[in-house]
Amino acid sequence: MARPHIEFIQNQVLPWKQLGEGSSRPGAAGRALSYDPDTKAASVLMKYPSSWRLAENHYLPCDEELFVLDGSLSVGGVVYGKGDYAYLPAGMTRPGMASGPGAAVLTFFEGPQGSVMGDAPLGMYDPTRLIAKIETEAMPWGTPSDAMVMTFANAPGRKLLRQDPKTGDRTWMLRFGPDDPKKMTHGRAENHPVVEESFLLEGEIQMPCGVLHPGAYFWRPPGIPHGPVGTLKGLWGFFRSKGGPLTTKWADNEEPVDWSPTYRPILPDHLKPFATQAADTSSLY
Ligand SMILES: [Fe+2]
Repeated sequence: MARPHIEFIQNQVLPWKQLGEGSSRPGAAGRALSYDPDTKAASVLMKYPSSWRLAENHYLPCDEELFVLDGSLSVGGVVYGKGDYAYLPAGMTRPGMASGPGAAVLTFFEGPQGSVMGDAPLGMYDPTRLIAKIETEAMPWGTPSDAMVMTFANAPGRKLLRQDPKTGDRTWMLRFGPDDPKKMTHGRAENHPVVEESFLLEGEIQMPCGVLHPGAYFWRPPGIPHGPVGTLKGLWGFFRSKGGPLTTKWADNEEPVDWSPTYRPILPDHLKPFATQAADTSSLY
C-alpha cells in the first residue's frame, strides 16, 4: 500500500524519535510526517543538536531531498543554511555530516534511509540527478504553472526547485494572498492526478477541513477533491508532487469559501490521537 491520506496535521503535535547508535544519524531526532511501508520512502522533519557530527565516510542507498528550516547543516563539506535546498542522489559518497549551531531540516528519503559506511558501489551514484545547493531566499519568484490560479489568487508566485528528469515529479515553493473574504466569497474545488505534499512555512490556509497554520503538513493522494482554498494572512509553502508534475482539474461550479472552518482532518489511525492535541503554532516546529 502507498502512503495514506494525511490532511492535515500540525507537525508540532507529533513526537520526536531520538536516533541512537546503529541508526543512520545517531544523536539526531526525527519527526515522521509520512511513510510508505512498501518503498520505505519517508518525509521527516529532522532535528540536529548543536555540535552534531557524523564523521564517517558514508552514503545512502536512496535519494535524499532537503530544505533547511533553521540553523545549518553540512553534508560532505557543503554548508546549508536557512532556506537552502538540495537533492542528493542515492550512492553519493559523503565524507561526513555536521551541524555547528544545530538545524531543523525538512527531509525526504525516497527509500530505506539507513546510511551505509564506506564508498557506494560503482554505478549507484548518478551525478546528473544532483542538485548540490539552491539558496532559495536569493531566488526570484516566478509565475505559477496553472492559469486558473492566476485568475483568483492575489500576488501568486512560485519558485520551481526541481523537476525529476524521468518521473516529472516536482518540488516548488508557492506563495499567494492574502485574500479579501468580502470579495472572494466563492471558489472552485480542485484535484490532481498526482500526489500533492506540502509543509506550510508561513501564513494560513483556509480549507474545508480546517485552517492550516505554519508547520501544517499534508500528503494528499491523487484524485482527491479539495478546496475551495483561501488565505486570510497569505501563504508561503513548500510543495512536492509525486507521480508526475502537478496538473489541476478544477470543478465546474463554484462553492462558498468557508473562512472559519473547523478542524476535520483525514488521518490514518496512528496519527488520530495526536490531532486531538492543541498545536503550539507560535513556532514552526
Ligand atoms: Fe491542490
